Amino acid sequence: MMDFQQIFGASPETEASAPGRVNLLGEHTDYNDGFVLPTAIPQRTTVQLGLSKDGQHQFYSAEFDEQVSISGEDTAPEGFASYIFGCIRLLEESIGHSLQPVNLHVTSKVPIGSGLSSSAALEVATLKGLRSLFGLALDDVQVAQLGQQAEIQYAGLNCGIMDQMASSLAGTDSMLFLDTRTLERRVLAFPADAEILVIDSGVHHSLAAGSGYNQRRAECEEAARLLGVKALRDITDPQAVESLPEPLRKRSRHVVTEDNRVLEAVEGVSAKRFGELMNASHASQRDDYEVSVPEVDTLVAILQETPGVFGARLTGGGFGGACVALVEVGKVEEISREVLERYMRSGYAGRILVPEV
Ligand code: GLA
Repeated sequence: MMDFQQIFGASPETEASAPGRVNLLGEHTDYNDGFVLPTAIPQRTTVQLGLSKDGQHQFYSAEFDEQVSISGEDTAPEGFASYIFGCIRLLEESIGHSLQPVNLHVTSKVPIGSGLSSSAALEVATLKGLRSLFGLALDDVQVAQLGQQAEIQYAGLNCGIMDQMASSLAGTDSMLFLDTRTLERRVLAFPADAEILVIDSGVHHSLAAGSGYNQRRAECEEAARLLGVKALRDITDPQAVESLPEPLRKRSRHVVTEDNRVLEAVEGVSAKRFGELMNASHASQRDDYEVSVPEVDTLVAILQETPGVFGARLTGGGFGGACVALVEVGKVEEISREVLERYMRSGYAGRILVPEV
Protein backbone atom coordinates (compact mmCIF):
# COMPACT_ATOMS: atom_id res chain seq x y z
CA MET A 1 0.00 0.00 0.00
CA MET A 2 1.36 3.43 -0.96
CA ASP A 3 1.45 5.94 1.88
CA PHE A 4 0.99 9.72 1.77
CA GLN A 5 4.72 10.41 1.47
CA GLN A 6 5.10 7.99 -1.46
CA ILE A 7 2.16 9.48 -3.33
CA PHE A 8 2.62 13.17 -2.62
CA GLY A 9 6.34 13.46 -1.77
CA ALA A 10 5.74 15.20 1.55
CA SER A 11 4.39 14.39 5.01
CA PRO A 12 0.69 14.96 5.74
CA GLU A 13 -0.15 18.13 7.65
CA THR A 14 -3.12 16.63 9.45
CA GLU A 15 -5.36 13.57 9.62
CA ALA A 16 -8.84 12.57 10.75
CA SER A 17 -10.81 9.36 10.95
CA ALA A 18 -14.42 8.23 11.30
CA PRO A 19 -16.03 4.82 11.91
CA GLY A 20 -18.66 2.86 10.02
CA ARG A 21 -21.86 2.17 11.95
CA VAL A 22 -24.22 -0.68 12.58
CA ASN A 23 -27.84 0.15 13.22
CA LEU A 24 -29.43 -1.95 15.98
CA LEU A 25 -33.04 -0.84 15.47
CA GLY A 26 -34.91 1.81 13.49
CA GLU A 27 -34.41 1.00 9.83
CA HIS A 28 -35.76 3.28 7.10
CA THR A 29 -37.16 5.57 9.77
CA ASP A 30 -34.62 8.40 9.45
CA TYR A 31 -35.97 9.88 6.22
CA ASN A 32 -39.41 9.72 7.84
CA ASP A 33 -38.26 12.04 10.66
CA GLY A 34 -38.26 9.02 12.99
CA PHE A 35 -36.03 7.32 15.55
CA VAL A 36 -32.82 5.30 15.11
CA LEU A 37 -30.44 3.41 17.36
CA PRO A 38 -27.00 2.88 15.79
CA THR A 39 -23.58 2.24 17.30
CA ALA A 40 -20.14 2.76 15.77
CA ILE A 41 -18.18 -0.27 14.57
CA PRO A 42 -14.43 -0.62 15.26
CA GLN A 43 -13.50 -0.31 11.57
CA ARG A 44 -12.63 3.26 10.56
CA THR A 45 -11.77 5.32 7.51
CA THR A 46 -8.71 7.57 7.84
CA VAL A 47 -7.82 10.54 5.68
CA GLN A 48 -4.49 12.35 5.72
CA LEU A 49 -4.26 15.79 4.18
CA GLY A 50 -1.86 18.46 3.08
CA LEU A 51 -2.04 21.46 0.77
CA SER A 52 -1.53 20.71 -2.92
CA LYS A 53 1.11 22.78 -4.67
CA ASP A 54 0.00 22.20 -8.27
CA GLY A 55 -3.34 24.00 -8.28
CA GLN A 56 -5.36 20.77 -8.47
CA HIS A 57 -6.99 18.61 -5.80
CA GLN A 58 -5.26 15.22 -5.63
CA PHE A 59 -7.20 12.35 -4.06
CA TYR A 60 -5.68 8.91 -3.53
CA SER A 61 -7.47 5.77 -2.31
CA ALA A 62 -5.20 3.05 -0.96
CA GLU A 63 -7.98 0.44 -1.20
CA PHE A 64 -8.57 1.08 -4.91
CA ASP A 65 -4.97 2.15 -5.58
CA GLU A 66 -6.47 4.95 -7.61
CA GLN A 67 -5.50 8.60 -7.89
CA VAL A 68 -7.78 11.38 -9.10
CA SER A 69 -6.55 14.82 -10.02
CA ILE A 70 -9.25 17.45 -10.31
CA SER A 71 -9.71 21.21 -10.15
CA GLY A 72 -12.34 22.83 -7.94
CA GLU A 73 -14.30 23.97 -11.00
CA ASP A 74 -14.48 20.59 -12.74
CA THR A 75 -17.62 18.49 -12.85
CA ALA A 76 -17.88 15.82 -10.17
CA PRO A 77 -15.71 12.72 -10.68
CA GLU A 78 -16.88 9.11 -10.32
CA GLY A 79 -16.24 6.56 -7.58
CA PHE A 80 -14.56 7.25 -4.22
CA ALA A 81 -13.46 10.72 -5.40
CA SER A 82 -17.06 11.87 -5.87
CA TYR A 83 -17.72 11.74 -2.11
CA ILE A 84 -14.59 13.77 -1.34
CA PHE A 85 -15.25 16.25 -4.12
CA GLY A 86 -18.87 16.61 -2.93
CA CYS A 87 -17.72 17.32 0.64
CA ILE A 88 -15.30 20.00 -0.56
CA ARG A 89 -17.93 21.66 -2.75
CA LEU A 90 -20.58 21.68 -0.03
CA LEU A 91 -18.12 22.93 2.55
CA GLU A 92 -17.14 25.78 0.22
CA GLU A 93 -20.80 26.67 -0.29
CA SER A 94 -21.43 26.69 3.45
CA ILE A 95 -18.44 28.90 4.33
CA GLY A 96 -18.93 31.11 1.29
CA HIS A 97 -15.48 30.91 -0.30
CA SER A 98 -13.34 28.35 -2.09
CA LEU A 99 -10.67 26.28 -0.38
CA GLN A 100 -7.07 25.87 -1.45
CA PRO A 101 -6.54 22.60 -3.37
CA VAL A 102 -5.60 19.63 -1.16
CA ASN A 103 -3.69 16.37 -1.31
CA LEU A 104 -5.88 13.77 0.36
CA HIS A 105 -4.95 10.13 1.08
CA VAL A 106 -7.65 7.64 2.14
CA THR A 107 -7.33 4.27 3.84
CA SER A 108 -10.35 2.36 5.09
CA LYS A 109 -11.21 -0.78 7.00
CA VAL A 110 -14.96 -0.20 6.77
CA PRO A 111 -16.41 -2.95 4.55
CA ILE A 112 -17.92 -1.60 1.34
CA GLY A 113 -21.38 -2.76 0.25
CA SER A 114 -22.28 -4.36 3.59
CA GLY A 115 -24.70 -1.75 4.89
CA LEU A 116 -22.19 -0.43 7.43
CA SER A 117 -21.88 3.09 6.01
CA SER A 118 -18.50 3.10 4.34
CA SER A 119 -19.59 6.19 2.42
CA ALA A 120 -20.63 8.10 5.56
CA ALA A 121 -17.29 7.20 7.16
CA LEU A 122 -15.49 8.64 4.12
CA GLU A 123 -17.60 11.80 4.14
CA VAL A 124 -17.23 12.41 7.88
CA ALA A 125 -13.48 11.67 7.89
CA THR A 126 -13.00 13.98 4.89
CA LEU A 127 -14.98 16.83 6.45
CA LYS A 128 -13.23 16.49 9.82
CA GLY A 129 -9.89 16.41 8.01
CA LEU A 130 -10.73 19.58 6.07
CA ARG A 131 -11.96 21.21 9.29
CA SER A 132 -8.61 20.50 10.87
CA LEU A 133 -6.48 21.52 7.86
CA PHE A 134 -8.23 24.87 7.42
CA GLY A 135 -9.11 25.50 11.09
CA LEU A 136 -12.84 25.80 10.31
CA ALA A 137 -15.47 26.36 13.00
CA LEU A 138 -17.75 23.44 12.24
CA ASP A 139 -19.33 21.20 14.88
CA ASP A 140 -19.86 17.45 14.59
CA VAL A 141 -23.56 17.84 13.76
CA GLN A 142 -22.76 20.26 10.92
CA VAL A 143 -20.20 17.75 9.68
CA ALA A 144 -22.94 15.10 9.59
CA GLN A 145 -25.36 17.42 7.79
CA LEU A 146 -22.82 18.31 5.11
CA GLY A 147 -21.92 14.63 4.72
CA GLN A 148 -25.59 13.75 4.19
CA GLN A 149 -25.86 16.44 1.52
CA ALA A 150 -22.76 15.06 -0.22
CA GLU A 151 -24.41 11.64 -0.29
CA ILE A 152 -27.66 13.04 -1.69
CA GLN A 153 -26.21 15.48 -4.22
CA TYR A 154 -23.06 13.64 -5.32
CA ALA A 155 -23.88 9.93 -4.82
CA GLY A 156 -27.56 10.19 -5.79
CA LEU A 157 -28.81 8.43 -2.65
CA ASN A 158 -31.72 10.30 -1.16
CA CYS A 159 -30.70 9.20 2.34
CA GLY A 160 -31.58 10.30 5.86
CA ILE A 161 -29.16 11.64 8.47
CA MET A 162 -28.55 8.48 10.54
CA ASP A 163 -25.31 7.25 8.99
CA GLN A 164 -23.44 10.53 9.06
CA MET A 165 -24.66 11.35 12.59
CA ALA A 166 -23.55 7.91 13.80
CA SER A 167 -20.18 8.17 12.08
CA SER A 168 -19.63 11.70 13.42
CA LEU A 169 -20.92 11.20 16.97
CA ALA A 170 -21.34 7.55 18.02
CA GLY A 171 -18.90 5.42 20.01
CA THR A 172 -18.35 1.66 19.84
CA ASP A 173 -19.32 0.91 23.44
CA SER A 174 -22.75 2.55 23.55
CA MET A 175 -25.85 3.09 21.42
CA LEU A 176 -26.76 6.49 19.99
CA PHE A 177 -30.49 7.10 20.25
CA LEU A 178 -31.34 9.82 17.77
CA ASP A 179 -34.54 11.67 17.00
CA THR A 180 -33.89 12.48 13.34
CA ARG A 181 -36.43 15.32 13.30
CA THR A 182 -35.00 17.37 16.18
CA LEU A 183 -31.52 15.79 16.21
CA GLU A 184 -31.95 15.33 19.98
CA ARG A 185 -29.85 12.39 21.06
CA ARG A 186 -28.98 10.22 24.04
CA VAL A 187 -26.06 7.91 24.59
CA LEU A 188 -27.35 4.62 26.01
CA ALA A 189 -25.75 1.46 27.36
CA PHE A 190 -26.21 -1.82 25.48
CA PRO A 191 -28.75 -4.17 27.08
CA ALA A 192 -27.16 -5.93 30.08
CA ASP A 193 -25.12 -9.11 29.46
CA ALA A 194 -25.29 -8.76 25.70
CA GLU A 195 -22.92 -7.89 22.89
CA ILE A 196 -23.12 -7.21 19.19
CA LEU A 197 -22.33 -9.64 16.38
CA VAL A 198 -22.35 -8.50 12.75
CA ILE A 199 -22.16 -11.02 9.91
CA ASP A 200 -21.94 -10.16 6.24
CA SER A 201 -24.34 -12.14 4.05
CA GLY A 202 -21.92 -11.96 1.12
CA VAL A 203 -24.55 -10.26 -1.02
CA HIS A 204 -23.13 -6.90 -2.03
CA HIS A 205 -25.66 -4.12 -1.73
CA SER A 206 -25.74 -0.95 -3.72
CA LEU A 207 -28.29 1.71 -2.91
CA ALA A 208 -27.54 4.46 -5.36
CA ALA A 209 -29.78 5.75 -8.13
CA GLY A 210 -32.07 3.10 -9.57
CA SER A 211 -32.15 0.94 -6.43
CA GLY A 212 -35.31 0.39 -4.42
CA TYR A 213 -34.06 2.77 -1.73
CA ASN A 214 -35.09 6.04 -3.37
CA GLN A 215 -38.35 4.42 -4.44
CA ARG A 216 -39.13 3.40 -0.82
CA ARG A 217 -38.50 6.95 0.29
CA ALA A 218 -40.84 8.34 -2.37
CA GLU A 219 -43.53 5.84 -1.28
CA CYS A 220 -43.23 7.03 2.33
CA GLU A 221 -43.56 10.66 1.29
CA GLU A 222 -46.65 9.83 -0.75
CA ALA A 223 -48.15 7.94 2.22
CA ALA A 224 -47.51 10.89 4.54
CA ARG A 225 -49.16 13.21 2.03
CA LEU A 226 -52.24 10.98 1.79
CA LEU A 227 -52.44 10.78 5.59
CA GLY A 228 -52.13 14.56 5.88
CA VAL A 229 -49.01 14.55 8.07
CA LYS A 230 -45.59 16.13 7.59
CA ALA A 231 -43.83 12.77 7.87
CA LEU A 232 -44.71 9.20 8.92
CA ARG A 233 -43.08 9.92 12.26
CA ASP A 234 -46.26 11.82 13.10
CA ILE A 235 -48.30 8.59 13.05
CA THR A 236 -48.03 6.48 16.21
CA ASP A 237 -50.95 4.08 15.83
CA PRO A 238 -50.33 1.44 13.13
CA GLN A 239 -54.12 1.21 12.61
CA ALA A 240 -54.03 4.70 11.10
CA VAL A 241 -52.31 3.45 7.93
CA GLU A 242 -54.75 0.60 7.22
CA SER A 243 -56.81 2.65 4.75
CA LEU A 244 -53.86 3.38 2.44
CA PRO A 245 -53.60 1.64 -0.95
CA GLU A 246 -50.85 -1.00 -1.33
CA PRO A 247 -47.91 -0.89 -1.26
CA LEU A 248 -48.16 2.33 0.76
CA ARG A 249 -50.05 0.56 3.56
CA LYS A 250 -47.26 -2.01 4.07
CA ARG A 251 -44.48 0.53 3.74
CA SER A 252 -45.98 2.85 6.32
CA ARG A 253 -46.85 0.00 8.65
CA HIS A 254 -43.16 -0.87 8.72
CA VAL A 255 -42.14 2.71 9.52
CA VAL A 256 -44.75 3.25 12.23
CA THR A 257 -44.13 -0.08 13.97
CA GLU A 258 -40.35 0.36 13.64
CA ASP A 259 -40.46 3.77 15.33
CA ASN A 260 -42.49 2.18 18.14
CA ARG A 261 -39.92 -0.60 18.49
CA VAL A 262 -37.09 1.90 18.89
CA LEU A 263 -39.05 3.86 21.48
CA GLU A 264 -39.71 0.68 23.45
CA ALA A 265 -36.06 -0.42 23.23
CA VAL A 266 -34.74 2.84 24.64
CA GLU A 267 -36.87 2.46 27.74
CA GLY A 268 -34.09 0.15 28.93
CA VAL A 269 -35.54 -3.29 28.15
CA SER A 270 -33.80 -6.61 28.83
CA ALA A 271 -31.60 -8.24 26.21
CA LYS A 272 -34.33 -10.82 25.68
CA ARG A 273 -36.95 -8.16 24.87
CA PHE A 274 -34.47 -6.17 22.78
CA GLY A 275 -33.84 -9.34 20.77
CA GLU A 276 -37.57 -9.86 20.23
CA LEU A 277 -37.82 -6.32 18.90
CA MET A 278 -34.95 -7.02 16.50
CA ASN A 279 -36.67 -10.17 15.26
CA ALA A 280 -39.92 -8.27 14.72
CA SER A 281 -37.96 -5.57 12.89
CA HIS A 282 -36.54 -8.16 10.52
CA ALA A 283 -39.96 -9.63 9.74
CA SER A 284 -41.26 -6.13 9.08
CA GLN A 285 -38.36 -5.26 6.76
CA ARG A 286 -38.82 -8.55 4.92
CA ASP A 287 -42.61 -8.64 4.60
CA ASP A 288 -43.79 -5.03 4.72
CA TYR A 289 -40.84 -2.96 3.55
CA GLU A 290 -39.53 -5.69 1.20
CA VAL A 291 -35.87 -4.72 1.46
CA SER A 292 -34.45 -8.14 2.35
CA VAL A 293 -33.07 -10.82 0.04
CA PRO A 294 -33.22 -14.64 0.42
CA GLU A 295 -29.58 -14.99 1.54
CA VAL A 296 -30.11 -12.44 4.32
CA ASP A 297 -33.36 -14.14 5.38
CA THR A 298 -31.49 -17.46 5.60
CA LEU A 299 -28.70 -15.94 7.68
CA VAL A 300 -31.14 -14.18 10.00
CA ALA A 301 -33.16 -17.40 10.46
CA ILE A 302 -30.00 -19.34 11.34
CA LEU A 303 -28.98 -16.67 13.84
CA GLN A 304 -32.42 -16.60 15.42
CA GLU A 305 -32.36 -20.40 15.88
CA THR A 306 -28.92 -20.45 17.50
CA PRO A 307 -28.78 -20.73 21.32
CA GLY A 308 -27.32 -17.63 22.92
CA VAL A 309 -28.74 -15.29 20.26
CA PHE A 310 -31.35 -12.87 21.67
CA GLY A 311 -32.37 -11.56 18.24
CA ALA A 312 -31.15 -10.79 14.73
CA ARG A 313 -32.07 -8.64 11.78
CA LEU A 314 -30.97 -7.15 8.48
CA THR A 315 -29.12 -3.89 9.13
CA GLY A 316 -28.54 -0.84 6.91
CA GLY A 317 -30.24 0.15 3.69
CA GLY A 318 -31.06 -3.44 2.67
CA PHE A 319 -31.10 -5.32 -0.66
CA GLY A 320 -28.14 -7.37 0.66
CA GLY A 321 -25.45 -6.49 3.15
CA ALA A 322 -24.96 -7.53 6.74
CA CYS A 323 -27.06 -8.85 9.63
CA VAL A 324 -26.73 -7.68 13.20
CA ALA A 325 -27.43 -9.91 16.18
CA LEU A 326 -27.56 -9.35 19.91
CA VAL A 327 -25.84 -12.27 21.64
CA GLU A 328 -25.03 -13.45 25.16
CA VAL A 329 -21.80 -12.04 26.50
CA GLY A 330 -18.92 -14.53 26.20
CA LYS A 331 -20.60 -16.65 23.53
CA VAL A 332 -19.83 -14.66 20.43
CA GLU A 333 -17.05 -16.89 19.10
CA GLU A 334 -18.96 -20.11 19.55
CA ILE A 335 -22.08 -18.59 17.98
CA SER A 336 -20.14 -17.14 15.02
CA ARG A 337 -18.55 -20.49 14.25
CA GLU A 338 -21.82 -22.37 14.38
CA VAL A 339 -23.76 -19.81 12.34
CA LEU A 340 -21.10 -19.48 9.61
CA GLU A 341 -20.90 -23.26 9.25
CA ARG A 342 -24.66 -23.59 8.85
CA TYR A 343 -24.80 -20.65 6.46
CA MET A 344 -22.07 -22.22 4.37
CA ARG A 345 -23.93 -25.54 4.28
CA SER A 346 -26.88 -23.60 2.81
CA GLY A 347 -24.57 -22.73 -0.08
CA TYR A 348 -23.54 -19.19 0.86
CA ALA A 349 -20.37 -17.48 2.03
CA GLY A 350 -20.58 -15.17 5.04
CA ARG A 351 -17.96 -13.49 7.17
CA ILE A 352 -17.76 -12.00 10.64
CA LEU A 353 -17.37 -8.21 10.59
CA VAL A 354 -17.92 -7.39 14.30
CA PRO A 355 -16.20 -8.24 16.59
CA GLU A 356 -13.30 -7.28 14.38
CA VAL A 357 -10.87 -10.13 13.74
C1 GLA B 1 -29.02 3.87 4.45
C2 GLA B 1 -29.22 5.38 4.52
C3 GLA B 1 -29.73 5.82 5.90
C4 GLA B 1 -30.93 4.98 6.34
C5 GLA B 1 -30.66 3.48 6.14
C6 GLA B 1 -31.89 2.65 6.41
O1 GLA B 1 -27.98 3.49 5.29
O2 GLA B 1 -28.04 6.07 4.22
O3 GLA B 1 -30.04 7.19 5.89
O4 GLA B 1 -32.09 5.38 5.67
O5 GLA B 1 -30.20 3.19 4.84
O6 GLA B 1 -32.28 2.73 7.73
